[in-house]
Amino acid sequence: MKNILVTGAGGYIGSTMVDHFLSQGHRVIGVDRYYFGKDVLGSEVMNNQRFTMLQKDIRDITVEDMKDVDVVIDLAGLSNDPTCDLKPNLTYSINFKGGINVAECARKAKVPRYIYSSSCSVYGLGEATKLTETSEVHPQSYYAKGKVDVERHLLELANSDFSVTLLRNATVYGLSKRMRFDLVINIMTLKAWKDRRIFILGGGKQWRPLIHVRDVVSGFAAAMDAPRDKVAGQIFNLGSDEQNYQVFQIAGIIKDLIPNVEVIQVPDDADKRTYNVSFAKIKQTLGFQAQFSARDGAKEIIEALNYGVIDPDDARTRTIDHYKFLLRVEDTMAELAKNGRIF
Ligand SMILES: NC(=O)c1ccc[n+]([C@@H]2O[C@H](COP(=O)([O-])OP(=O)(O)OC[C@H]3O[C@@H](n4cnc5c(N)ncnc54)[C@H](O)[C@@H]3O)[C@@H](O)[C@H]2O)c1
Repeated sequence: MKNILVTGAGGYIGSTMVDHFLSQGHRVIGVDRYYFGKDVLGSEVMNNQRFTMLQKDIRDITVEDMKDVDVVIDLAGLSNDPTCDLKPNLTYSINFKGGINVAECARKAKVPRYIYSSSCSVYGLGEATKLTETSEVHPQSYYAKGKVDVERHLLELANSDFSVTLLRNATVYGLSKRMRFDLVINIMTLKAWKDRRIFILGGGKQWRPLIHVRDVVSGFAAAMDAPRDKVAGQIFNLGSDEQNYQVFQIAGIIKDLIPNVEVIQVPDDADKRTYNVSFAKIKQTLGFQAQFSARDGAKEIIEALNYGVIDPDDARTRTIDHYKFLLRVEDTMAELAKNGRIF
């Protein structure tokens, strides 16, 4: 049994990860501001004796929080391009300074293993196909630049007592307790289900590698369980070669599942990213293989929508809208609150 500290535990990946590690018999400390709700993990997790909720900002984490921790998995932060564009200084403060603070505290507390959740979007405007971990990065946004900066800093912190592993996730899809309808498969599936329309932005030829959220968790678990010499100081793209799609192909998968859907081409897209990535290293080194397909992910979302398991109108599923709402709340509180109260 390991003591695993997961930051971003209340998030899309984090909430799925917490379930997995608890089911494997580990102890989990779930660090998060819980911006998407303190109830997100559900009563089963909250009542589990092996789970500790630590509602704390990653910028305020201390060495004491890391006492007796065997592994730190850092998932916390502002998690997409448009949200990071809202307030670049805030993005820097949370995603860069917060991330580095977590790692420095872990190192000081002598936590032996640290795994960071990076992103294939560091490749940005990929100039070739089958980009590997040694390919040049071309980050296109504050979000992706932040990932590159954190990665560099973390590798400098690594030493013989502090194993750092960087996992560059493909774009994630599938069901999670904290649902995200701002990721390509998830949003296309929702729009097809709700409005019978699929929008393809920017021509549809752009490449997006994809991975199911439960496969992401398996990838992190594989990095955690691997012998140190296989993962220390290493970067891995996390995904599978079979799931490098062009956006128009993703639309085709969803159209197959939901008939009578109109596909609408929108020539412009502010998002210029395109990257086709090789996932050979993680397969060869850690034996990682994705278990789920894009079709599986879209299918389970459709079923969850049909059965009312997820609310298609829950504003918290649209990451940027929710952060805009929280920023408005903060402004209103600053203007009107007396003794922390408005009423
Ligand atoms: N989902 C994807 O497609 C994807 C792809 C590549 C990389 N990633 C990375 O994986 C990680 C997790 O992504 P996700 O999809 O679960 O995003 P998410 O937005 O669902 O989760 C992030 C969590 O971090 C928390 N958080 C934000 N700021 C915080 C702070 N200052 N202190 C403490 N907690 C804070 C939020 O409350 C949230 O629960 C992120 O680092 C993201 O960049 C995600």
